[in-house]
Amino acid sequence: MTEKNMSDTLILGIESSCDETAAAVVRNGREVLSNVISSQIDLHTIYGGVVPEIASRKHIEKINQVIRLALKNAGVTLDDISAIAVTYGPGLVGALLVGVAEAKAIAYAKNIPLIGVHHIEGHVSANYIEHPDLEPPFMCEIISGGHTHLVIVKDYGEFEILGRTRDDAAGEAFDKVARAIGLGYPGGPKIDKVAKEGNPHAIEFPRSHVTDTGKTSLTFARGNQEMTDYDFSFSGLKSAVLNYLNKCTMMHQEWNQADVAASFQQAVVDSLVDTAMRGARDYHVTKFAIAGGVASNSALRAAMEKACAKNGMKFYRPSPVYCTDNAAMIAVAGYYEFQKGARSGWDLNAVPNLKLGER
Ligand code: KG4
Ligand code: ZN
Repeated sequence: MTEKNMSDTLILGIESSCDETAAAVVRNGREVLSNVISSQIDLHTIYGGVVPEIASRKHIEKINQVIRLALKNAGVTLDDISAIAVTYGPGLVGALLVGVAEAKAIAYAKNIPLIGVHHIEGHVSANYIEHPDLEPPFMCEIISGGHTHLVIVKDYGEFEILGRTRDDAAGEAFDKVARAIGLGYPGGPKIDKVAKEGNPHAIEFPRSHVTDTGKTSLTFARGNQEMTDYDFSFSGLKSAVLNYLNKCTMMHQEWNQADVAASFQQAVVDSLVDTAMRGARDYHVTKFAIAGGVASNSALRAAMEKACAKNGMKFYRPSPVYCTDNAAMIAVAGYYEFQKGARSGWDLNAVPNLKLGER
């Protein structure tokens, strides 16, 4: 049984936005008492990517067991839980719905406050788990399978967005290139591993350097979102890799999988570090954090650490287990929302394309 003070705030976090069914219990916003993740990777590998229908079905099968285990591992019962935090967007609608419906059912039955959490706010909040000294404001680069954002975290759950991807997210590029070079799903971790055997300078792929703030037709094309100097772009790099592979095939030349992986990864890392450091210098940042699945990339972590040290900034990053999807980060974000008085009603619904900064 976990030692629990009457004044402790215990949050049960639930995450099911993509292919991980996860539940966690976090004490006072920073201490993870349990963190259970049931991954569906093996199930989706044969299809080369996440199949939404299969993901939803598997979440339904797993979610009760995962929550029970999270409570058991934390040594608590639902009676000890102060609030339930659940990811309600962005993500796959059917997958999100499983977590949201489950959280609502438990909250209703046990009369526990319910808090809908933004998945990306969760990724950022993963940094609070292992860095007790980290408090806003700080700059954060959020790099996941569906998002690439450069933001200033002004306060808990409050963001100023400086830049975002104009096309593919960084993780999406990793996954697509991995497929093209025969590594399959999940692409990011496989490229990370194979790249260690390759030469990152074997092929000079282009570095996206988005500095044109073209606010006319492009602005319109992206639904009136303003372009900035801190935007990212990865589809050109992805096309360059595909062109390189096609050219080799046409000329009957062999290509080296490890060299392509390492050279592609280096180009992504250079773009991410370059944009981050430009933003950090312009905004006189002293604390810089990374978050999201791609933040577990070993080359990126090393390059970012070096760049932050060179620029006199303190560097923060979650351990890999808290970079990829997990429920501890959702419980942490939920804790700070709870402290601010945020509560969701029984009308809480899944919002698959929820934007950062929206509630
Ligand atoms: O944050 P996440 O788990 O889910 C989303 O919210 O999207 O990120 C998943 C993405 C995938 O594209 C995956 O390939 C990538 O993160 N990823 C990595 C690594 N581990 C996961 N990318 C590069 N290197 C890694 N080690
Ligand atoms: Zn995620």
